[in-house]
Amino acid sequence: MVATGTKTYQNYIGGVWTDARGGEMLENRNPANPSDVIGLFPRSTAEDVAAAVQAAQAAQPAWAALSPLKRGEILLRAAALLEARADEVAADMTHEEGKTLREARGETLRGVAILRYFAGEGAQALGEVYPSAHPATMLYTVHVPLGVVAIITPWNFPVAIPLWKIAPALIYGNAVIVKPAELTPLTATKLVQILAEAGLPGGVLNLVVGSGSKIGPALTEAAGVTAISFTGSNEVGRGIQSAATRRGAKVQLELGGKNPVVVLDDADLDQAATLTVSGAMLSAGQKCTATSRAIVQRSVLDSFTQKVLERVSSLVVGDPMRDETTVGPLVSAAQRDSVLTYMQIGRDEGAELLLGGGPLDGPEYRAGYFVQPTVFANVRPDMRIAQEEIFGPVLGIIAADGYEEALAIANGVRYGLSASLFTRDIAKSFHFVRDAEAGVIHINGETAGAEPQVPFGGMKESSSFSREQGKAAAQFFTQTKTVYFEPPQTPAPSPSSPQAQKAAGQMSA
Ligand code: UN1
Repeated sequence: MVATGTKTYQNYIGGVWTDARGGEMLENRNPANPSDVIGLFPRSTAEDVAAAVQAAQAAQPAWAALSPLKRGEILLRAAALLEARADEVAADMTHEEGKTLREARGETLRGVAILRYFAGEGAQALGEVYPSAHPATMLYTVHVPLGVVAIITPWNFPVAIPLWKIAPALIYGNAVIVKPAELTPLTATKLVQILAEAGLPGGVLNLVVGSGSKIGPALTEAAGVTAISFTGSNEVGRGIQSAATRRGAKVQLELGGKNPVVVLDDADLDQAATLTVSGAMLSAGQKCTATSRAIVQRSVLDSFTQKVLERVSSLVVGDPMRDETTVGPLVSAAQRDSVLTYMQIGRDEGAELLLGGGPLDGPEYRAGYFVQPTVFANVRPDMRIAQEEIFGPVLGIIAADGYEEALAIANGVRYGLSASLFTRDIAKSFHFVRDAEAGVIHINGETAGAEPQVPFGGMKESSSFSREQGKAAAQFFTQTKTVYFEPPQTPAPSPSSPQAQKAAGQMSA
């Protein structure tokens, strides 16, 4: 039941908050207590997408004509506004997504850092000067905007991921249409409000809320959309990629992961266990960078496993709004069902269930999408729970006889987003940096996390080879012009020469 008086929200198109054309609405519910309806959001249609594309196309040339320093000032103002409203935005995120307030606050402040970083990029050099085969030629590159870009974002990082796409798209002079996940439209609405309040001209950033199946194709197919940046599932991402490629649009994908930690016998086992558990369990494991496999040298298997179990047992699952909670609910019923299915698959495949393995019982949990933090041991590398992305608080422990075997297991999956090695051995660390098949490598660190000033992205099926954030963002959100700048072959006549006087006379005649 939706109470009368439930707050309703709108799209933002051409600088105006506006209802979806078809008038249909989506309910946004609290995953910790789904009877709590947070608000009603537009269920947009292809017509809304078309209006957003038109508005973005109309606004983009004037936006691109501004100095990037001016564009940067707007991002800086947005950073200050987001920082001032961080508690409110974080609470909204926790309310609709279910991550703990502590994590939501951390992510919101990361959003502030992303805005500041890309505001600064507006003042950085873009383009290069080259020597030419012809000594008089000035040979250089300039980077120009793509035009209108579509940004399609997931529910698991409702502030950080939209901002790490929107901020570079804007600083490099593009107009944006953002389609947030239908499970987290409130956080996206707040971000757009803040950017509008910071002074973005109307039409430069447009928000279209709705279900991916309904408006995704319209966005991907729109002739006016030059590029699409997507983070989400492999299935949806590859569909977008083929549709975009067919019509010649630029596309960037960030997809799944099956991220390993490799723990060697000389590792600091307390550090390794702590960071394995935080990587696996925070955000209830719903990160594409989450740790899902611990590949452990047999000689330290028992002591490492013991340390992991101690830490997982002390996690507090519950209402994500409460300070003491460390693991909130999963985001939706579908997500919970899928994770519970994987827990059953692990049992059926013969993995040894050490902890968790099912839903949580008790009055506090009954309503929400809570599952138990789960640890499987005796996991074989070919099991489905060791190969497929689960996107829940489930860790599989795999034994290995030594570094070489551990590395082969780590690499033996279709994904390659992030990978960690815990060791004190410098030679093996160098080897791992070279040979681990992952776009992000950590030595003695957690698999999750991403700083804004460096490239982020995966190898193999985890991405489309392109990278996000840092200097890599300019490669995606701009295109290059190469300029051969030659002087005229004969010098211009000097003002006092007879030719010049003749020309001036003709002009005034
Ligand atoms: C992080 O680990 O902090 O969707 C960022 C995801 C990734 C981002 C992870 N694209 O989980």
